[in-house]
Amino acid sequence: MSVEEIEVVVADRRAEADAVVSLTLHRAGGGELPPWTPGAHVELLLGDDVVRQYSLCGDPADGKSWRIAVLREPGGRGGSDRVHTALTPGTELRVRGPRNHFGLVPAKRYLFVAGGIGITPLLPMIRQAAAEGAEWRLLYGGRTRSSMALVEEVRALAAHDGQVSVRPQDENGLLDLPAFLGDPEPGTLVYCCGPEGLLAAAEGACADWPPGTLHTESFAPVAASREGDTGFEVELRASGLTLRVPSDRSVLDTVVEAGVQVLYSCTEGTCGTCETDILEGEADHRDSVLTQAEQEAGQSMMICVSRCRGPRLVLDL
Ligand code: FES
Repeated sequence: MSVEEIEVVVADRRAEADAVVSLTLHRAGGGELPPWTPGAHVELLLGDDVVRQYSLCGDPADGKSWRIAVLREPGGRGGSDRVHTALTPGTELRVRGPRNHFGLVPAKRYLFVAGGIGITPLLPMIRQAAAEGAEWRLLYGGRTRSSMALVEEVRALAAHDGQVSVRPQDENGLLDLPAFLGDPEPGTLVYCCGPEGLLAAAEGACADWPPGTLHTESFAPVAASREGDTGFEVELRASGLTLRVPSDRSVLDTVVEAGVQVLYSCTEGTCGTCETDILEGEADHRDSVLTQAEQEAGQSMMICVSRCRGPRLVLDL
């Protein structure tokens, strides 16, 4: 079973930067779209089982429009190519969501770090932070100035010079995260979205900050080695079933095969749809949705990729 899908229509399309277009989506036939909060993403169903997740970068107060901005990735797997070539005003398509695993936690002060198209979930977060009177700054990097989308929109939210630092790599080199973050300060949260290298650098730069300071979002699957994977038992308490998960199958596959209805979408640990509560046992987390603190808390797991540390898991299914 998959999450609810709705039919939308492309109402507007704009070039935002080199290889970046934004699309405004309306509900096909008119009417309100499901509500969302900053950090949320939707999944576009692009045909032939191609499903891609894009952050919403418009205004949550506009109940009739969703906006996404999409970078065309020539070396990608074809999803962004389809968006760029096939989605023009008037095109109808199916979308799932919105879902949010990157919500803006209330804080007095925010430090935002964007790499390239990673600016998209941060723009509505910054709008909210600014509206709530929180202190905020943004460090925004990209390959070149002309490749960086939404710069003017984010600058328009700044109340003073220096609040938004735009740092194209060809002019300024790599982002200097330690200089931007400064010393750990209580009450500050760091939100970072961008390529894997930037997320890893942010993790390193926030190592001395209080746990839970850094919030990141990645749509890239975790590259987990499957070597050494073993089978284990999974009890589905609500269904009254106990199943054996073989070493070469996922919990999700096993559960679906047993005829248990479960929500799922990406099957690669990036969308959060299959999140399931753990009642007993310890998960071997391999998703890119849960934060490290959430993984350590062990209350839930993404059953499409995560496995079991030990012989047995009990799930709330
Ligand atoms: S189905 Fe997307 S995280 Fe499991």
